[in-house]
Amino acid sequence: MSTSTTAGWHPLEVTRVEHLTAEAVALSLHVPPELAATFAHRPGQHVVVRHGELRRSYSVCPPPDDPAALRLVLKPVTPGGFGTYASSELAAGDVVELSPPAGKFGLPELRGAHHVLIAGGCGITPLAPMAAAALRGDPDCRVSLVHSARTAADALLADEIALLKDEFVQRFDVLHVLSRERGGSELCTGRIDPPKLRRLLELLDVRPGAQFALCGPPGLLDTAREALEGVPPEDVRTELFASTATGPAPEPESRGGRISATLGGRTSSMTMLPQDRVVLDAVLRHRPEVPYSCRDGVCGSCRAKVLSGEVALGPQHALDADDLAGGYTLACRARPRTDELALDFDA
Ligand SMILES: Cc1cc2nc3c(=O)[nH]c(=O)nc-3n(C[C@H](O)[C@H](O)[C@H](O)COP(=O)(O)OP(=O)(O)OC[C@H]3O[C@@H](n4cnc5c(N)ncnc54)[C@H](O)[C@@H]3O)c2cc1C
Ligand code: FES
Repeated sequence: MSTSTTAGWHPLEVTRVEHLTAEAVALSLHVPPELAATFAHRPGQHVVVRHGELRRSYSVCPPPDDPAALRLVLKPVTPGGFGTYASSELAAGDVVELSPPAGKFGLPELRGAHHVLIAGGCGITPLAPMAAAALRGDPDCRVSLVHSARTAADALLADEIALLKDEFVQRFDVLHVLSRERGGSELCTGRIDPPKLRRLLELLDVRPGAQFALCGPPGLLDTAREALEGVPPEDVRTELFASTATGPAPEPESRGGRISATLGGRTSSMTMLPQDRVVLDAVLRHRPEVPYSCRDGVCGSCRAKVLSGEVALGPQHALDADDLAGGYTLACRARPRTDELALDFDA
């Protein structure tokens, strides 16, 4: 199944801007009937929003009582960023450009599983709908959520999660860990480090075979991976929200050859010029509609299959072992290693 963002932008009307916390807003978007199939989504998927030169990924985060809704929940990060624009300027009736939902982040379909979700800050946005879908779809599953936030007032979606907890009180456990104020107990107070996380998992009676989903900034993901040492990698799924600034692909292996890129069913040929740092730079010059967002190996929007030739792929967080074995690469992290390279962005 293709998980890359389908080429193409769709103007969608904002129907509601709701201020959830002092900083965060929820944007509800109207999907017209003719785009219903294009914007159908699975829990854990994300869209890319285009605003001028900015492209930003946001998880689709429908309210628990309307899982088909297209709602995004986001926080301002810098004054010039999309989050600040959305929380201070966007209003109902405005139009934003979105690419269709994409991405493979999600819970495994394992009946009766214990799903353990670990969220840092706004990393709760894909995990909350994943929890709701698992609890509703599998009466034998258990879900445990550890959500790390600065303060209780800052904990995104806490109200909706509390309602879900009331509905599934026997099968859903939630621990909010607060880094800047006292939480519900000593263990739920302060920054999460690996020993604290291990103790939290003990408290949640997490046993071998549990299925983990982690989402948040790089620090939390590193902490969780350390705490989960020994857990089989196939039982841990992760989504990174912010860049780790790891730099582009290694220079020495790169070549400046011909590239053929298939996108939207049409194939174009181009040359990699000396100023091109990665394959995406060359493709963008000829096919400006090529999907991308973070340009940092995080969001997976620029995923393409290598049909022939080879690339050197720099540090990245979006492709898993299956993608790599299947010949996929990220155009924003790849440099050609052969004189001829053929990429398929539709695969
Ligand atoms: C798959 C995916 C899903 C995402 N889903 C969401 C979501 O549902 N809600 C949401 O609010 N964000 C989400 N993000 C992060 C989002 O795409 C943006 O990176 C973030 O909102 C900052 O964009 P901006 O334009 O507001 O700020 P910018 O002006 O881009 O400023 C970002 C600066 O802060 C750093 N930074 C980027 N993201 C973060 C972050 N989350 N926390 C702290 N520092 C950061 C960057 O390195 C940069 O220096 C997601 C990212 C990915 C890859
Ligand atoms: S643009 Fe985000 S991974 Fe390439």
